[in-house]
Amino acid sequence: MAQVGRSGRAGGRAGGSAVRNRKMSKKVGSGGKPTRTASEVVESPQANSSTRAVVAATPRHLLQLEGMDRVTLTRLLRRATMHATKAEAGENAEQTLSGVTVANLFFEDSTRTRTSFSMAAFNLGARVLEFGATTSSVSKGETLIDTARNVEAMGVGVLVVRAKQSGAAEMISKDAGASIVNAGDGRHEHPTQGLLDMLTAAQALGRVETLDFSDLRLAIVGDAVSSRVARSAIHGFTTLGAKVMCIGPSAMAPKSLETLGCTVERDLDAVLPDVDAVMMLRVQFERHGDASGAKASPLIPSIREYRVGYALTPDRESMMKPSAIVMHPGPMNRGLEIDAAVADGERSVILQQARNGVFARMAALEWVAAAPQIAK
Ligand code: CP
Repeated sequence: MAQVGRSGRAGGRAGGSAVRNRKMSKKVGSGGKPTRTASEVVESPQANSSTRAVVAATPRHLLQLEGMDRVTLTRLLRRATMHATKAEAGENAEQTLSGVTVANLFFEDSTRTRTSFSMAAFNLGARVLEFGATTSSVSKGETLIDTARNVEAMGVGVLVVRAKQSGAAEMISKDAGASIVNAGDGRHEHPTQGLLDMLTAAQALGRVETLDFSDLRLAIVGDAVSSRVARSAIHGFTTLGAKVMCIGPSAMAPKSLETLGCTVERDLDAVLPDVDAVMMLRVQFERHGDASGAKASPLIPSIREYRVGYALTPDRESMMKPSAIVMHPGPMNRGLEIDAAVADGERSVILQQARNGVFARMAALEWVAAAPQIAK
């Protein structure tokens, strides 16, 4: 997978598609006015304070947290924190994306991610386009790349892409003049979920100032093998110094996950008293190969046995440290991996995660658009 950075490709790109895109399109927005591309938001080093220069930057993408350095991660989280603080104070956000058009290209269903990206773009003054695969020409067989290129040709500067296929966002980024934000690709990564999870843990566990997670222990419980959320969390939390454990049955938490930088454990009850945060994962039946979508899976013998070993019940919650928090990215299978009393209980920061999605995504959009407030 390509590293996050100014390049759309691992090892850099020639910028051919960006150049082609700039040449071929007049970048028309509503009313026939030109609309800025993401790269056009960048101030050149020569620009004085009153001018903005169009520079020949290749688009910046956010495809994954793997490979993102601590400085960049910290910059994104500080910016997200600033947005959260302003919102708490009832202040409006700076209109850093005024003139930029952001399109939500969701080829897979979503509640939290889609809504919060829309709110984030709107809060920053961007124009927001909503695209749903079921009401688009994807249903007639159009490819993801053709769809993205056609939407981009209309003058879109940032494409937010969710897809069932691992690697879809990266694939589109290789042929895009627009900036691509991965909003979840198959089992691979969900980088903005990782950001909002880190922001939430930092707030709830008193680490907003330092963003130092070196004494923080995170347990990720359940269906890690299917989970892009788990992969982004492992990369992000460990980069900030946390110790991350994946806990589940071997089919859902194979030892091979340790190559990502976490440890793998089997005994949830042994781990719970020592951790600061528990991130419960949804059992993702739809990724287990049973097209019927029935609540049965070849990865576990039965729902009942899964619950005996890995459900977060009130009894298990009582084993946790008084200060420890419960997280879940949503959507939840209530009564399966997590009981309602825990999901809605005092330790739960699940709705805070949803709220922080807006602030984390504001920072992410500013970063890919190279807004001067975060672009350093
Ligand atoms: N956490 C998450 O990605 O939720 P949605 O699928 O509702 O966007």
